[in-house]
Amino acid sequence: MAEIVIVNDVGPRDGLQNQPQALDPQQRLQLITAIRASGLDHIEVGSFVSPKAVPVMAGADAVVAGLQGLASGNYSALIPNLRGYELARDAGVKTVVMVLYGSDGMARKNVNMSREEADAVAARIIEQATADGVAVIATIGVAFECPFDGPVDPGLVADVGARFLQLGVDRFVLADTIGAANPQQVRDLTRTLVDRHGAQRLGCHFHDTRALGLANVYAAVESGIRYFDASIAGLGGCPFAPGAGGNVATEDVVMLLQQLGFATGIDLQQLLAASDLAQTLTGTAPGGRAKAWLKPWLAKQHQ
Ligand code: COA
Ligand code: ZN
Repeated sequence: MAEIVIVNDVGPRDGLQNQPQALDPQQRLQLITAIRASGLDHIEVGSFVSPKAVPVMAGADAVVAGLQGLASGNYSALIPNLRGYELARDAGVKTVVMVLYGSDGMARKNVNMSREEADAVAARIIEQATADGVAVIATIGVAFECPFDGPVDPGLVADVGARFLQLGVDRFVLADTIGAANPQQVRDLTRTLVDRHGAQRLGCHFHDTRALGLANVYAAVESGIRYFDASIAGLGGCPFAPGAGGNVATEDVVMLLQQLGFATGIDLQQLLAASDLAQTLTGTAPGGRAKAWLKPWLAKQHQ
């Protein structure tokens, strides 16, 4: 039996939040439906953030309501604070993605808090979510390097991870928000975390700003990480992190994992259809690197 790796598509959130043009909730649901149709069942569907801060994410409640009509899945939404948590919970979200920070500079730019304040808010959200039966993923942004404060101390990130895993988060995800990590750093930090906590509740989130996205996924896989965020058609970036390119493309990550012999439960041909749709809907999604090669290759397999 092939070992399972979970791919969580964050395109409808991390991807779309950086698009100049907003997709309406129906279009976002169309994209989510297409991704889900490939068998991919972990999807971050939006964020409950201030519409002044990120106008294109408005209507997340309508997106969540629309999920009722789709195949069941592990649908999550990002929250920046307690207000976001309450809005997400009341909309029916069962898994929230809470953001922690590797630096003060990024915490201030993103949520107008210090790093420690954001940690304290997160701890409070975990308490509330535990009482409400809502699952919590803690993603630490700028886990390797911050565009404002520079390189981040891996020891600090490991300490934050230990603390939040202890507090009971369902998963702790390292996010290379601006795509500045290299595979050696990724291998070192993921090895430390896997040695200390096992891989079960860990994950990684890479951006492909400088073509190291897949190399970083591979380094993390080698350390035992079995959960990756990726974005359909490589959509993405962060509006508050200058220089951040799109996420590593879901279709590229799935191809890599399948070729390494892992089971993802995802049909690549259907995933490419979702990638085409993401490109059509946005007009800007780069489309990953694998698609041009995969399409004729898959057509031959199906002959
Ligand atoms: N969702 C919707 N509205 C929210 C909110 C949330 N999660 N949190 C706060 N608000 C509203 C408040 O009710 C208030 O509304 P009002 O002006 O009508 O009274 C307003 O936003 C300002 O609230 P305040 O607590 O002073 O927030 P702020 O101006 O310091 O902004 C955040 C802080 C966290 C709300 C904002 O920076 C944000 O949403 N950031 C998200 C950034 C993001 O998504 N980054 C990318 C993903 S990592
Ligand atoms: Zn990201």
